[in-house]
Amino acid sequence: MKDIERVYKFLNEARTYFLATVDKDQPRVRPFGTILLSDGKLYIQTGKIKDVSKQIAANPKAEICACKDGEWVRVCGELVNDDSYDVKVAMLEKMPNLKGMYSADDDNMQMLYFKNAKATFSSFTSAPETVDL
Ligand SMILES: Cc1cc2nc3c(=O)[nH]c(=O)nc-3n(C[C@H](O)[C@H](O)[C@H](O)COP(=O)(O)O)c2cc1C
Repeated sequence: MKDIERVYKFLNEARTYFLATVDKDQPRVRPFGTILLSDGKLYIQTGKIKDVSKQIAANPKAEICACKDGEWVRVCGELVNDDSYDVKVAMLEKMPNLKGMYSADDDNMQMLYFKNAKATFSSFTSAPETVDL
């Protein structure tokens, strides 16, 4: 399994991760659950009207963290906006509950993928392992 596939599998199984952004000099964090692997890129989804989206536009550096069964993964990097229609459709098909709030051709739905990202897998029982994505 490729490293990015391992990260994707972990995030799917954990179901919820926490997304940290930078707001001037203040860290911000909130729960997220959307995740998609498409064209070798790890995507998350949000709404352009949200503060989280505005923070990423001003400073794309972000980190996510999820845990499952005594293990956790952190992914840090930059989040890049992707307005491609097809990737929005793929996200809506993977997580159909989103269709109640978003559609691929509204002005709000936002797909963001990680660029220059590293993932670190940690656990209480083994040394941390960092991979480039
Ligand atoms: C379990 C869970 C998963 C969530 N997943 C997402 C998500 O994938 N994308 C999103 O935009 N909001 C998601 N939310 C809602 C955000 O946490 C919420 O809108 C938050 O206020 C956004 O941050 P902001 O207020 O800094 O913009 C989720 C909330 C919960 C409880």
